Amino acid sequence: MHSSAEILGHGPMDVFKGLAWVIAGVLFISSLRGLASQETARRGNGYGIVGMGLAILAMLVAGTKDNIAFLIGALAIGATVGVTMAQRVAMTAMPEMVAILHSFVGLAAVLVGYAAFLAPGHLGVDSAERGEIWLDVLIGAITFTGSIVAFLKLRGSVSGKPLLLPGRHVANLLMFGTSLALVVPFATQPGTEALPFLLAMTLLACILGVHLVAAIGGADMPVVVSMLNSYSGWTAAAAGFMLDNNLLIITGALVGSSGAILSTIMCRAMNRSIWSVIFGGFGADAPSGGTGAKVVGDMTETSIDELTEELRNAKEVIIVPGFGMAAARAQHAVKQLVDLLRKRGVNTRFAIHPVAGRLPGHMNVLLAEASVPYDIVLEMDEINQDFPKTDVVFVVGANDIVNPAAQTDSTSPIYGMPVLEVWKAKRVVVLKRSRGAGYAGVDNPLFVAPSTRMLFKDAKAGMEELVAKLMA
Ligand code: TAP
Repeated sequence: MHSSAEILGHGPMDVFKGLAWVIAGVLFISSLRGLASQETARRGNGYGIVGMGLAILAMLVAGTKDNIAFLIGALAIGATVGVTMAQRVAMTAMPEMVAILHSFVGLAAVLVGYAAFLAPGHLGVDSAERGEIWLDVLIGAITFTGSIVAFLKLRGSVSGKPLLLPGRHVANLLMFGTSLALVVPFATQPGTEALPFLLAMTLLACILGVHLVAAIGGADMPVVVSMLNSYSGWTAAAAGFMLDNNLLIITGALVGSSGAILSTIMCRAMNRSIWSVIFGGFGADAPSGGTGAKVVGDMTETSIDELTEELRNAKEVIIVPGFGMAAARAQHAVKQLVDLLRKRGVNTRFAIHPVAGRLPGHMNVLLAEASVPYDIVLEMDEINQDFPKTDVVFVVGANDIVNPAAQTDSTSPIYGMPVLEVWKAKRVVVLKRSRGAGYAGVDNPLFVAPSTRMLFKDAKAGMEELVAKLMA
């Protein structure tokens, strides 16, 4: 008596693997869906973990048992490294950790490509398979070296300045064109005679990866990291075709497309062109090429006492958190302030700029960590029109995202970037440590506006002082 699976030519293990692939694919899609909003992000993460666990289990159970000890050893090492890195990383260093992890994906793709080619008994024998190997290695090598450069720039180990070689676009085109052309001899030469062509293409792709990312300024690295995230997805999808692994194709396509969408959203929020990220030299071409007009005027300082009074008398308050809140880890004190104000009946909400902080969703994650209710955390588009009817806008460690020069000064490097129109409120109070500039290094006319008051303090210390005063 044969089971239906055996009659169809598949053993029960293949059916189990197939089923596990489908379930894991659905879990990965659910995971992405969950990650789309704060309320469901934790659950989304859970789906991803279960999906990946299932995929690994299916591979261990249904795959070849020849090197099982080796495989489990590799899994244990990988898991230990991953857990240790994730536990140690500071929130502000997250982009650089993501960058180095992408370089692992790129390197893995290159190694798997070579392994597939050098084991012709299994794979890489016909031209189509050679084409798949070639694509996997090409994207993998660009992702590998590009991510290492992004990691080094984000860490500050190499200069964040864009490397702008003369004729760099022509050089990129030549390298890419030659890499493309090399697929022909690689796919047609017999056996290991094709190896030199693969090696030459890998070398070119590695140089291309370095050159593409080196041409981008450190300030724009998070967008590049998101773009490399997308590349790492496509390289996984290419590996999926090569290894005939449907789950890898699904997962790779999900990562590739979501990374591309995220990059587009970030570019739009920073008023950059996505094409210049893809082709390199992106940070170099600020919209106007200018440095922005010098701001003249005096900043007016305020005190905790004065601010306490203003907040006590306010009916509508909007808090605008920025990188300084993250750097000072002031989110818990901010939450205390919000609780106090809401208890007094003050309508207190948050305005979140899409690129506030240093990584997508940076502020949302911090506020969620401090248990701020989601319904008072509003995106820029949802709240920008409410500033004119707001009594006090409290800017906590933010700068570029509230800079009116983005709308008024066409020589400013951030000209055209959508910003939170806080200056339309009756009173703006900016909490930061000094008169210094923000990430883009440009002056901010908001600080000298007649309705603005400056509170020069560390965000956490200042916020704690304010909370103590309000409670007194
Ligand atoms: P920034 O423009 O960087 O301004 C942050 C301000 O916080 C600084 O002016 C700094 O002034 C202040 N600050 C720093 N440490 C502080 C502390 N301990 N206490 C109080 N204040 C402190 O930040 P933003 O307004 O959030 O804008 C984000 C910037 O990063 C944008 O230019 C954006 O394009 C860029 N960027 C963001 C992303 C993503 S995805 N979020 C990615 C790439 C680039 P003091 O030094 O005077 O205190």
